[in-house]
Amino acid sequence: MATSNAVQIREVGLRDGLQMVQTILTSAQKLEWCRRMVDAGVTDIEVTSFVPPKVVPQFADAAEVAQGALAIEGLHAAALVPNLKGAQRAFDVGLRKVHYVLSASNEHNLKNVRRSTAESVEDFVRIVAARDESEQPGVRGVALGAGIATAFGCTIAGRVDEGIVLDLVETLLQAGADEITIADTVGYANPGQVRALMREVCALAGDVPVACHFHDTRGLGLANVVAALDAGVRSFDASLGGLGGCPFAPNATGNINTEDTVFLLEAEGLHTGVDIGKLLVMREQLALWLPGEPFTGAIARAGLPKTFAQQAQAIAA
Ligand code: COA
Ligand code: ZN
Repeated sequence: MATSNAVQIREVGLRDGLQMVQTILTSAQKLEWCRRMVDAGVTDIEVTSFVPPKVVPQFADAAEVAQGALAIEGLHAAALVPNLKGAQRAFDVGLRKVHYVLSASNEHNLKNVRRSTAESVEDFVRIVAARDESEQPGVRGVALGAGIATAFGCTIAGRVDEGIVLDLVETLLQAGADEITIADTVGYANPGQVRALMREVCALAGDVPVACHFHDTRGLGLANVVAALDAGVRSFDASLGGLGGCPFAPNATGNINTEDTVFLLEAEGLHTGVDIGKLLVMREQLALWLPGEPFTGAIARAGLPKTFAQQAQAIAA
């Protein structure tokens, strides 16, 4: 990252945001969204998910969207994959970054990907091997991120022991993860819990980048961002307009809202490189494309405070 106070925002609206919505966007719309996010300064985007079209019809065009995204200048495109087959599809398209996900809660993992967490760990080992032994051009250079869902609790199993999450972090790092993402899939986390767990995760990860993925289901999303910042995390998933959910987390709302997250980070004197005004314009476009979908966001409702730009500059100086 360019400066020590830089924070990375990763747009996951095209993946987490879209997996629950009723309307299927066209590939052209998805790519237009990507282009406008890059123009607004959001250059890291999870552009799609390589799951079977039967499971999530929205991602039937995953290969097409990934290919189109690779042609967008300045965009670092990634995709979510739930298994080896998904990873192979992502490799075939030529993506440089792949995000694998498993759940700390075995019960959630069984529902989400129809296998135990231990089996998902084995699949990750196979994915790393498939990458490292690939004869396809470029595949050996693909970065493999590993995400741990339901890391702060689970709608099915309830409490998720911190030790389980930390053991998984160690196992995934040993298996060759190039990045670790800790996810509050169901919106159970609170700041104290985040600060404590993320300190441990960052200590284990050392030089391997760590990101957080929060949902705002119970209104603590941005408070959890501040707690993760305290623990040293400098990379956050967010979705434009707060779209998002999880098919196996009843009443899960969206991810933390991209516009509001950028506002928070900039107000804290951190640097995201993102133009909130441009995000708000794209958000309006998205609302027209997705009629009837719930959007969240305080900045979209109330606007930026007049003091915002000066305040951020003053703290950064
Ligand atoms: N992409 C495309 N097709 C896939 C696939 C993938 N990633 N993984 C499996 N398939 C195909 C198989 O080839 C097989 O096809 P066939 O019936 O024509 O032979 C079929 O799907 C079943 O394969 P199987 O390995 O038995 O998968 P499954 O039915 O046990 O489902 C997952 C496992 C992981 C594919 C499915 O549970 C899934 O997609 N879960 C993700 C849900 C999600 O998106 N959650 C939110 C994000 S965390
Ligand atoms: Zn999520």
